[in-house]
Amino acid sequence: MKKVIIRKTEDLENWRRNIKSEINFIPTMGNLHNGHIKLISTAKNENSNINLVSIFINPLQFDNKLDLENYPKTIDNDIKIAFSNGADAIFIPSDEDIYPPNNKNIKFLKASIELSSALCGLNRIGHFDGVCTVVYRLINLIKPKNLYLGEKDWQQLLILKDLVLRKKLNVAIKSIPTQRDFDGIPLSSRNVNLSKNDRKLIRFFSSELLEAKKNFQQDKKINLNEITKKLSAKKITIEYLELLHPHTLQKASLEDNISLLAGAIRCGETRLIDHVFLMKRRPIIAIDGPAGSGKSTVTKLIAKKLKLLYLDTGAMYRALSWLILKENIDYKKEKNLQNILKDISIVFKPNTNSHQDVYVNNCCVTEEIRSQKISSIVSKISSIKEVRKFLVEEQRKIGESGGLVAEGRDIGTTVFPHAELKIFLTASIDERAKRRKSDKNSKDSQEIDLHTLKELIKIRDFEDSNREISPLIKANDAIEIITDGYSINEVVDKIIDLYNDKIPKESEIK
Ligand code: PAF
Repeated sequence: MKKVIIRKTEDLENWRRNIKSEINFIPTMGNLHNGHIKLISTAKNENSNINLVSIFINPLQFDNKLDLENYPKTIDNDIKIAFSNGADAIFIPSDEDIYPPNNKNIKFLKASIELSSALCGLNRIGHFDGVCTVVYRLINLIKPKNLYLGEKDWQQLLILKDLVLRKKLNVAIKSIPTQRDFDGIPLSSRNVNLSKNDRKLIRFFSSELLEAKKNFQQDKKINLNEITKKLSAKKITIEYLELLHPHTLQKASLEDNISLLAGAIRCGETRLIDHVFLMKRRPIIAIDGPAGSGKSTVTKLIAKKLKLLYLDTGAMYRALSWLILKENIDYKKEKNLQNILKDISIVFKPNTNSHQDVYVNNCCVTEEIRSQKISSIVSKISSIKEVRKFLVEEQRKIGESGGLVAEGRDIGTTVFPHAELKIFLTASIDERAKRRKSDKNSKDSQEIDLHTLKELIKIRDFEDSNREISPLIKANDAIEIITDGYSINEVVDKIIDLYNDKIPKESEIK
């Protein structure tokens, strides 16, 4: 495809009409650096869409005239950089193109009050309104499928995600972690304006934040006063230094697994921001839902794609049932049950088929626990209070350091109520019955007619949702996904998008 530079909005609209494939859009204000390059190359490598980079220094987002005048302008070099890193088209409009005088169709937007009343929003009045206005205008002109943004401007990223939701824009936001220079400072177009001394100060600031993150990984503690003292001792002017919830930007609470430590400092005329994420444990995804919703298949694939541990809680109830059957134990007698729970060890180990095996007291039972015999008693055993209590504790032990995706019926409500992402996966009774009927591995498909299968599913749903202990209910903060009409891969991709939306990429504990 011929690479093009477009300067007028009419030309952009004409070009857009002739483009048949989807568009990845990378908005910039020019002076492109490795951060922008990473955005462009990520877009290029992620799919076969057309990559459009815009270069527009948006006057509306500058609260200071001098700052606007001093903003670095390097357009010829930017064009070279964008094209050589994967841009197919570059849009370089003028102020009049984006904001035609007297054009009543231009919408001047307000950023979310909640999100813009924190951090940079407090000192840069109108800045985020300006960002929302220009990005909304550009999205409406370009109609991209994906919008690529950096996590460096985390507050901007949240505000633009909120804009997309509020305005129901049909675009997916993809973010990339903050890119840092050789000395650890975040890459920013404004860095070219830093004096040697400014650079030394920002390096100190960034290294303090990175150090705080490292220490937090060890002792789970953070002392803002200490950091403030160290910065002040270097005569660094701090505009803010805050520990916040990474999505609401409200003060972080003790329960938050991930928090945002964000700061802004002033060096001469230049203002610089940096942040790190502090994470107590790696993230947890909880997937609950009724039988036949596709939970197991989806959960296994997610574990593989996101390199998370797959915790099949159902297999743990089956493993215990297996041992009870094997030892021929009368589990209704409390003493017998206590004895077996005292000694049982259930362990998951990865196997050579890139799945995992289940071991009970060192004996591999992966296949055996799927037998009809086990299926017929597991529901009774899993409704015993002591069993539930014991296995929930075991599951929490496995999840102590996070990094897992767990499936079951009470994961989001009971086992991991603080999971970062909770999914309630379901499907209509018709769809679930059809799936069971067409499952070649299931005995049901041969022996039971569709109508009876539907009735059986209804009964099972009723029992699961109405049992006294850990009934199947959707957690308040779970996202319901009805899988009717969707392929497995579509559901997996949707959940991975939701995960990426919740978990900042740079928060990962290495
Ligand atoms: O992050 C930026 O460079 C700008 O705020 C953006 C998103 C290009 C809007 O002008």
